[in-house]
Amino acid sequence: MYISIKKLLKEGKLAQEVTLKGWVRTFRSNRFIALNDGSCLENVQVVVDFEHTDEALLRRITTGAAVEVEGTVVESQGKGQAIEVQAAKLKVLGDSNPEEYPIQPKKHSLEFLRENAHLRVRTNAFGAIMRVRSTLAYAIHKYFQENGFFYVNTPIITGSDAEGAGEMFRVTALDAKNPPLTETGEVDFKKDFFGRETNLTVSGQLEGETFAMALGKIYTFGPTFRAENSNTSRHLAEFWMIEPEVAFLDLAGNMDLAEDFIKYVLKYTLETCRADIEFLNQRFLDEEKTKPQNERSTMNLIEKIEFVIHNNFKRVSYTEAIDILKNCNHNKKKKFQYLIDEWGADLQSEHERYLVEKHFQCPVILFDYPAKIKAFYMRLNEDGKTVRAMDILFPGIGEIVGGSQREERYDVLLQKVHDLGIKEEDLWWYLDLRRFGTAVHSGFGLGFERLVLFTTGMTNIRDVIPYPRTPQNAEF
Ligand code: 4AD
Ligand code: MG
Repeated sequence: MYISIKKLLKEGKLAQEVTLKGWVRTFRSNRFIALNDGSCLENVQVVVDFEHTDEALLRRITTGAAVEVEGTVVESQGKGQAIEVQAAKLKVLGDSNPEEYPIQPKKHSLEFLRENAHLRVRTNAFGAIMRVRSTLAYAIHKYFQENGFFYVNTPIITGSDAEGAGEMFRVTALDAKNPPLTETGEVDFKKDFFGRETNLTVSGQLEGETFAMALGKIYTFGPTFRAENSNTSRHLAEFWMIEPEVAFLDLAGNMDLAEDFIKYVLKYTLETCRADIEFLNQRFLDEEKTKPQNERSTMNLIEKIEFVIHNNFKRVSYTEAIDILKNCNHNKKKKFQYLIDEWGADLQSEHERYLVEKHFQCPVILFDYPAKIKAFYMRLNEDGKTVRAMDILFPGIGEIVGGSQREERYDVLLQKVHDLGIKEEDLWWYLDLRRFGTAVHSGFGLGFERLVLFTTGMTNIRDVIPYPRTPQNAEF
């Protein structure tokens, strides 16, 4: 019976005949194969009867080779595992030249593994990260599906700039060397594939809103693209975003939803991926040991996840946050790169992390930001200068969620569009929502990779997505 290692370790019985297929991690003493098939973190030990096995075959059992084993489940003689498989038949399905195979059974640097991203998922750490990522994605769908939300696939190619930040990748079928020109000598996008300028989406929110205003509660979960030249450990040019949108929901309800949702997916994933997260926890602790004492985290990875699950997020207005930052010693001693001196300043990640890690020491929801530093679609407050925005800030990550109550008043939204010089004709359909059956509604966007970063204890966003897209890098 062909069986996965995960199933074998869970349900395998002594004396059972099994067939395993996987990749050799190590082969010791011409006798013990540590076999991994990716179904779980654990390897299974396969014991080869080397006295009755062809020399030439033994030589082909090398790290990285794909093998098929038929054998019997027996009690393990060695320590570290309860059972092992006594091989009766062994076949090398795909050889792996040990002189050339990059992933050797030793510690490789994360940089080296990034250069070998097609093979890095065969290591314990990346196997664990990618299984955790998959489980988080499942938990996200499960949460929304069980709570009456409909999954909506918003377009990847679009004509609008949802965030109004101008950080878009152009999509075109024109000949770059010889594009058609208008009479005034500009590129004539009327002759392009879609008859207009188009780009890859930066967010599915605007289209998501149209569906929320019909189906009530929706969510998107798809790739988004940003041509922002931020070469940081928190930014990708291609990342996955989850964007729920809910009709008749105000900002306070939006915060409740975001908090409940995050706690649920963390709890589900911690329970489901216990072994992987325990492995990553150990990895996290080993990394911490390389840091000076005063920079080490007071909690280990599992404690950090549990802390988020069991504690209320602290809700703080932007104005309160600015007061805290302005008066903190860190600011007074000029230790921030960007000093906070007045209301209206945009918060940098150093400020967000100060609030979360030093001041409150728990996840924080900042709300009611100055209108000037937020996107055009956010609901203007009665004070005329702040909007009903909310950002959720996480320890070690900074901003993990950005959201808001949406401006539902036609006149106010139109004025904003005009003031910002956004082309009204690109957003006619979005404005229509405010003309036909408008209502209070809210939503947010969760950056999926930032959630995976938090859950795995990794520190660079390039290590939690299979093939990172960053400035100057689109290998694979
Ligand atoms: O704050 P952002 O830009 O908000 C929006 O796009 C809204 N349309 C969301 C909404 O209200 N429906 O992005 C949302 C989240 C951020 O909080 C962050 O977690 C993540 O997306 N994010 C990125 N993640 C990785 N790389 C980048 N370059 C990211 N930019 C944003
Ligand atoms: Mg944001």
